[in-house]
Amino acid sequence: MAKARTRARCTSCDHVEPRWVGRCPACGEWGTVEEEAVTPAAAGSTPTARPAARATPLHEVAAHADRRVASGLDELDRVLGGGLVPGSVVLLGGEPGAGKSTLLLQAADAIARSGSTVLYVSAEESAGQVRLRAERLGVLDGGVLLATHADLSAVTHVVEQHDPGVLIVDSIQTVRDPETTGVPGGVGQVRDCATALTRLAKERAMATVLVGHVTKEGALAGPRVLEHLVDAVCELEGDRHHALRLLRATKNRFGAVGEVGCFEMTGSGLTGVVDAGRLFVGDTHDDTAGVAVTLALEGHRPLASEVQALVTHTGAPNPRRAASGLDGQRVQLLAAVCQERAQVNLREHDLYASTVGGLRLAEPAVDLALCLAIASARHGGTVPRDLVALAEVGLAGELRLVTQTERRLAEAARLGFRRALVPSAYDGGAHGLTLVQEPDLGRAIAAVTTPRRSD
Ligand code: TYD
Ligand code: MG
Repeated sequence: MAKARTRARCTSCDHVEPRWVGRCPACGEWGTVEEEAVTPAAAGSTPTARPAARATPLHEVAAHADRRVASGLDELDRVLGGGLVPGSVVLLGGEPGAGKSTLLLQAADAIARSGSTVLYVSAEESAGQVRLRAERLGVLDGGVLLATHADLSAVTHVVEQHDPGVLIVDSIQTVRDPETTGVPGGVGQVRDCATALTRLAKERAMATVLVGHVTKEGALAGPRVLEHLVDAVCELEGDRHHALRLLRATKNRFGAVGEVGCFEMTGSGLTGVVDAGRLFVGDTHDDTAGVAVTLALEGHRPLASEVQALVTHTGAPNPRRAASGLDGQRVQLLAAVCQERAQVNLREHDLYASTVGGLRLAEPAVDLALCLAIASARHGGTVPRDLVALAEVGLAGELRLVTQTERRLAEAARLGFRRALVPSAYDGGAHGLTLVQEPDLGRAIAAVTTPRRSD
């Protein structure tokens, strides 16, 4: 009998080496390379009988993409581009506690009630735990089939037995394939199990959702390998201490990426938030300094978002610049711009900047609101709450137009804002708002911040 061959694979980047090494030559990580057995199929050493191969004219190919299975949750369907596509595989990522299991159990129930067979495989929790959650969500008797196997062949067997239209696997990191070497949850196991389930989904035209845990660094565990295998990747994000959750598609072969769904975690599960327009505006008093509002676009979704700043005196040689929900580097840069271009002296001051509601804002449109909040916090003047600020701020302190300014203004008017601060270069419609147009940060601060305290 031939001697069993082995090779080595990096658990971080999936690079394969013929033999074990201490440091992966591809990603440079130490101690991530593990030995694995080479199965004849994987090594390609024993070609078996050639499968019958043929090509089909395009128009004869069955179109699955049109028959989407609506998940019953509008916000989820919006992100998926209209529902689950038969035969497709969606990876749902998110940190533990984000609400992945909750969201999928609710969706499973709604799909089952609309007549499809839904199989929910919980490889992570016991049947009793899932039942308890279902009771709490009020989705106990919708007809969802539950299996609690972690073994890939058992999952396959249950799928063959019930022939579901929709399969949910919670989570892919806890499913294992005894035929494959490697630790459960390790990159080899995760990749092989996901590959097998993807094949099963395509063969049976079964829409499949795989839950994937996100590591602390924010990467989907099984480093990135899964993202290439699946058709769509959605991430459920949100601060565990806040009720709001955003669902974002970062890859979608059947729809647009960047689309965002908005949910609220309540005592009875996740509820879609249809008009999220003003959710991220806090309830500070009109005369509180250090607060300004912008209109962010998340996917196609406009969100009025408040930015807050706090400036405190310090004797430290290197004042602090801390950010929450905002890009830390951008906050540092804009603090410097405020100081050098708009006479907002922060040399002996710590600066804390934050969004509200746990929202993460990364687009340049937030720049001007952040600078207004900083200037207001430093000088004690307030920015009117019926004003939205929309501009990117350059290093020279100049205000630059951001994408879709007109659309943002229309949305701001709909949400009840009355004024907008935009760059001089804007030449679109006002949509009923009073426009304040300024060329640079210094003039913008002077135009809208009142009263100003001198020091
Ligand atoms: P869960 O779906 O278990 O998260 P994940 O699968 O992403 O790890 O739910 C996480 C949190 O949601 C948990 O801390 C409890 C809370 N929760 C509610 O607030 N209301 C509910 O109805 C449910 C089911 C959970
Ligand atoms: Mg879970």
